Amino acid sequence: MGGTETPESRAALPVGVFDSGVGGLSVLRDIRALLPHESLTYVADAGCVPYGGRPAAMIRERSEALVRFFRELPVKAVVVACNTATAAAAPALRARWPELPIIAMEPAVKPAVAVSRTGIIGVLATEGTLASDRFSGLVSQYAGSVRVLTQPCPGLVERVEQGDTESPLLDRLLRSYLQPLLDAGVDTLILGCTHYPFLRHRIQALAGPALHLIETGPAVARQLQRRLDRAGLLAPAAADRNIAFFTTGEPEALQTFLQRQWPEATGAVGRLDFSNEQAQQ
Ligand code: DGL
Repeated sequence: MGGTETPESRAALPVGVFDSGVGGLSVLRDIRALLPHESLTYVADAGCVPYGGRPAAMIRERSEALVRFFRELPVKAVVVACNTATAAAAPALRARWPELPIIAMEPAVKPAVAVSRTGIIGVLATEGTLASDRFSGLVSQYAGSVRVLTQPCPGLVERVEQGDTESPLLDRLLRSYLQPLLDAGVDTLILGCTHYPFLRHRIQALAGPALHLIETGPAVARQLQRRLDRAGLLAPAAADRNIAFFTTGEPEALQTFLQRQWPEATGAVGRLDFSNEQAQQ
């Protein structure tokens, strides 16, 4: 960040938001709904999706490269719109860039424990998230006497990346992940990966209306609002806002997904190449 910046000019900067792919768009939508005056820059690291089964060190490296990109733009804050990257990289990112507000996200164990009546909750998330120390820490901190059943979901992120949010194949996969949890008496299910809110309607349809589904996106948007407010960085109401999109994969794939899932947000998608860390739009 340059020395000539004023608080006003910093407040006008965008917020950077990233995920391994399109999943973080579910969080971007929540941020847009709560903070309509903010400019947002989204990066899908689709060149490396899925993060779920990859080594934590690799996810950390990718996350650092993404934050370096955001710093050069620059942005006023970064949202790690990915549970897997949070588990692997959030402490490292915060230690490296202590001056930058970094908002990260993790499965909403505490709210799920608070609403469960059967005392049995389920968590759908990636292997990386569920195997992390951060997740075990959350469970020991908040579960109390509530049983927490975890279900890794290989294949789901790939379905969403391909734009498949309803197909017989997707339903078969979902059923195989949901049924054991339902049979065990789960009444509250955490969507612990930002790709899964795009499957919410299918999950609810397959599990029935009684299952309580919990996402973290709205809480992340509120946390971003608090952090910006505290730092005097909220964009003024009259701000000229925009959303920019970048991907390390194929721009057409992200554009097609946006057209289907969030047509109001459709815009140009730039390609980001980490080999020279240059973004071309
Ligand atoms: N959407 C991400 C998450 O919240 C990552 C999914 C993946 O790439 O495996 O965990």
